[in-house]
Amino acid sequence: MRPVRDRQVHDGPLVIGGGLAGLSAALEAAPRPTLLVTPAPLLQACASAWAQGGLAAALTRADSPGLHARDTEIAGAGLVAPEAARALTEDGQATVEWLAALGAPFDRDADGGFSVSLEAAHSVARVARVGGDGAGRAILSALVAAVRAAPHVRTLENGRLRALLQDAGGQVRGVVIERDGRLTEILAPAVILATGGVGGLYAVTTTPAALKGEGLALAALAGAEILDPEFVQFHPTAIDVGLDPAPLATEALRGEGARLIDGEGRFLLGEAAEADLAPRDVVARAVHAARQSGRGAFLDARAAIGAHFPTHFPAVFAACMGAGLDPREAPIPVAAAAHYHMGGIAADADGRTGLAGLFAVGECAATGVHGANRLASNSLLEAAAFGRRAGRLAAAGPVEVSGRTSVLGGEVPPDLAPGALGELREAMTAEAGVVRDAARLTRLLDLLARLERTAPDAPPLVAAGLIARAALDRRESRGGHYRTDFPEPLAEARHSRLRRPPTPSTAAA
Ligand code: SIN
Repeated sequence: MRPVRDRQVHDGPLVIGGGLAGLSAALEAAPRPTLLVTPAPLLQACASAWAQGGLAAALTRADSPGLHARDTEIAGAGLVAPEAARALTEDGQATVEWLAALGAPFDRDADGGFSVSLEAAHSVARVARVGGDGAGRAILSALVAAVRAAPHVRTLENGRLRALLQDAGGQVRGVVIERDGRLTEILAPAVILATGGVGGLYAVTTTPAALKGEGLALAALAGAEILDPEFVQFHPTAIDVGLDPAPLATEALRGEGARLIDGEGRFLLGEAAEADLAPRDVVARAVHAARQSGRGAFLDARAAIGAHFPTHFPAVFAACMGAGLDPREAPIPVAAAAHYHMGGIAADADGRTGLAGLFAVGECAATGVHGANRLASNSLLEAAAFGRRAGRLAAAGPVEVSGRTSVLGGEVPPDLAPGALGELREAMTAEAGVVRDAARLTRLLDLLARLERTAPDAPPLVAAGLIARAALDRRESRGGHYRTDFPEPLAEARHSRLRRPPTPSTAAA
């Protein structure tokens, strides 16, 4: 543990994270002076910049917020909070229009309206896209330009979150940031965590590998309630060309007719084209099973996309060609990969957590809109819509940081050594991945207990422990959580609520 060397005081919202949720919160906090701290240069190391699908919203006459909320609830397998789904879907159109007004160049139809496409488990086409598969980067780029131009936002790039600061009453009063090897305490009246998900805890992920659940872990260590951490969504079509992270082959390819086949050309999910657009967990398990059995899994887009690949799906095309694979000529090898964390820091639609002074938005938060299985393309909507709400609420809070001297902290949890992180990632994929059971999860908890001995409370271990413990305790299969030893859902859907990280000594229970 190194001593904290610097201290700054910021009299406004302090936003941690440079993805869509963080930038939306920072922009909407105007005119309060807002400090935005990002772990990497803007546009890097955030999953939203990599999103290919788009933003789901009721934008057509065939659609309505009510219908969108209903699809969201069905996908969430009994664990979606109806009021959160309503709040989200009712904000859909206004959110897309806000992003468009900031310069996000959404694809348009002939009449100038938003052109929308269909993704799995949506009952109508409602995903607003940009340039085919470039939604994330294009939307983020527009917000980055807006943030850079916003006089109320000061941005500190390359600042890594290392700890939360609390006063004696538990109120969050700021953070410890590491920048250029130097630790700095930043005191602020409101901290908004927008730190992203947990993909980097897994050996196979479609998200930036740097995202290892730090915000989740530090909030848990501070005493925040963690909701449903066992629910991790695995995307069925990560491109399997030996890259870490694995590039994504968007579900929209299947929406346009690409088919999942095994190495012998047999359909993985049956003849019917709609079968390939079954809920993401079902498709992910089919891909996983085909690979485990040695048959292999491939996405065949030759007939459906073919020559249109470079113009309709430029990001996927570039990823394939970069790996020496021409998807116009050959099926794309695919694997299921950790893609999105439905669980997280329990928060409401305004980002409020149970800890005074702490807000959580985007993937690190669990607001109840995703339940056990996120509906495709709802995450960008949630990040922007609820990020904005949190920014407004935090900005309306106290003006000054009072009682500065009573702030505790300065100790930061240790980092995990690269070797230990590699071991953890392999184990998470093998033991808490697409398919789980008690033996696997117990093995994982034993490993975590061993790693904890050399790096107690290292955030990746805390985050992994939350996932593993809740997955072991959930003796059923539901949404993204599938147990071979409990393959059916229980009659009653219940949430997992964890207040402290699991203690290693209980790992073998
Ligand atoms: C995809 O484009 O397949 C991913 C969309 C999402 O995860 O929401």
